[in-house]
Amino acid sequence: MKEKVNVFDYAETIAKALRPGILLNSNGDKFNSMVIGWGHLGIIWGRETFCVYVRQSRYTKAQLDKTEEFTLSVPLDGMIDKEIVRVCGTLSGRDIDKADYVTLVEPQTNSTPGIKEYPLTIECRIIYTQDQILDQIPEEILNRYYGVSEDIGNFHTLYIGEIVDAYIIKEDE
Ligand SMILES: Cc1cc2nc3c(=O)[nH]c(=O)nc-3n(C[C@H](O)[C@H](O)[C@H](O)COP(=O)(O)O)c2cc1C
Repeated sequence: MKEKVNVFDYAETIAKALRPGILLNSNGDKFNSMVIGWGHLGIIWGRETFCVYVRQSRYTKAQLDKTEEFTLSVPLDGMIDKEIVRVCGTLSGRDIDKADYVTLVEPQTNSTPGIKEYPLTIECRIIYTQDQILDQIPEEILNRYYGVSEDIGNFHTLYIGEIVDAYIIKEDE
């Protein structure tokens, strides 16, 4: 069962969950999920949205560019699953099938599944995409995140997802 929610009632839960990481699910050539620590809930153009930042090197990036949608999975009550964080936060969908490590739950409005272990589910449709403009980033941040040789060219792309559904996956799903 899915219990519909007003996602803004969970703003604090989401903000606190971002530090250890929430999940950004995609469903291009196959299901994939990656941990994200950067993101924000808000409003633009009068629409409820969630912004995510994805490095060029992520398998997830190609998936998002293909399907133009994503689903976020957020743990409730601080219930972080260390194995999910390890698999989805350090391994790539290029090398493994992350669907083998989580319990997928059919989406309601878009085509990207949620995850039972992280029940707060936010389905999004991408309405805006922008590569970072590196010369507009303060130098100290540039050096920290993009200054090392292997990170040059590995900047982030911003995806703004319009929230098309939000619910909590209940136990009997
Ligand atoms: C706590 C945490 C937060 C992370 N936040 C982000 C993020 O916001 N953006 C990003 O591109 N990668 C982030 N990562 C790294 C990706 O989760 C990681 O590289 C992942 O293996 C990419 O999977 P993929 O290649 O299947 O897309 C984070 C990792 C951790 C552990």
